[in-house]
Amino acid sequence: MIKYYTELHNFFGNNSPDELIHTYGSPLYVYNENILRQKCKEMKNLVSYPYFISSYSSKANSNIELLKIIRDEGLYADAMSPGEIYVLLKAGFKPQEIFYISNNVSKEEMSYAIENNITISIDSLSQLKTYGELNEGGEVAIRINPGIGAGHHKKVITAGENTKFGINMEDMGAVKTILKRYNLRLIGINHHIGSLFLDPTPYIEGAKSLLKFAENFPDLEFVDFGGGFGIPYNKQGGEKPLDIDELGDRLSSLIYSWVKDYGKEITFKTQPGRYIVAECGVLLGSVHSIKQNHITSYIGTDIGFNVLMRPVLYDAHHDIEIYRDGKIVPSNRDDKPVTIVGNICESGDILAYMRKLPTINIGDIIGVMDAGAYGYSMSSNYNNRLRPAEILIDKSGEPTLIRRRDTLDDLLRNFIL
Ligand SMILES: Cc1ncc(COP(=O)(O)O)c(C=O)c1O
Repeated sequence: MIKYYTELHNFFGNNSPDELIHTYGSPLYVYNENILRQKCKEMKNLVSYPYFISSYSSKANSNIELLKIIRDEGLYADAMSPGEIYVLLKAGFKPQEIFYISNNVSKEEMSYAIENNITISIDSLSQLKTYGELNEGGEVAIRINPGIGAGHHKKVITAGENTKFGINMEDMGAVKTILKRYNLRLIGINHHIGSLFLDPTPYIEGAKSLLKFAENFPDLEFVDFGGGFGIPYNKQGGEKPLDIDELGDRLSSLIYSWVKDYGKEITFKTQPGRYIVAECGVLLGSVHSIKQNHITSYIGTDIGFNVLMRPVLYDAHHDIEIYRDGKIVPSNRDDKPVTIVGNICESGDILAYMRKLPTINIGDIIGVMDAGAYGYSMSSNYNNRLRPAEILIDKSGEPTLIRRRDTLDDLLRNFIL
């Protein structure tokens, strides 16, 4: 008997998916506070070394209410743009709790971070020069390309030979020259090798190579190993979670032995995004049509790729549950493969391809699991569709609206009419 994710975790609290859709509309992002807090704790306590900071990568989901919970759990935060910095400050993060990981940014964007006293990581020689011109005598971090990449899809591998990110290790002579010329103090180095690893080894190997490199700089205040901690998106297919105890133990012993040689107890950081928020989010939608087109059975829903882009962008798998009359419709042996599609005018608008699911009826509700990361944050108004509402199921199982659904007027908001 399959254990359904939302049943196992009492995901919807005191409500059925039907009631939530009835109250807040469809589609709808639903987050579960208990799961979010649990994931924060796991990442915060990853290693036993005392000077360790888990810094949430807010690009995964920047809903301000979720950010407040993440801060309440004691995490810091990473920003990838001035907009993310702005929202993080509004959520209550202090400037010293925010790390701006920049990539190809304008002088204005760098100045925004400097004026707000936010540490910035620079990822090219030319941008380091620009930073030096803007903030002579200041402090700075740099993003290294360690030459090792990892990830579930070529679009999420962010190190190695084929990526736009980071400064190559061979360019360190040039880095030192620029630091000297502008009297900059290098206080940190960071990297991010890629996203969604489920085996600890590539992360540990990446960390080793970053630490080896860090030996070149005797005055560092921190080393940041990046994010990418994976979650099992295919739980229904038996995919196993990342063994974070093993990862934590291996990382701890690496850090302790390195610190001994370095002679100084500096701070170590990580940048988890998806690991914190993916599993606390389920996207609900409605089935509006069913049709047979030649050999394919299409289930037509209101979950287009404007609402959840991951399947189209990364060929990503998300487990699916079906609900009817407030209950899960169980799978059985003669489930037939169906293709679940959205309502966007693009033939690539496919949420799940040839997935074996129980017989689906018009009016059923569909739940897309693990949708908390890179779900709403990548959503858009493509086809002039309205982005959905977001709700939070709190510790007592009650829902609260934490972002309202777009209105038609929102579509006109920036026009000069
Ligand atoms: C620099 C950096 N840090 C952190 C992350 C977060 O990755 P993840 O959500 O896989 O943990 C990313 C994602 O691409 C990134 O580029």
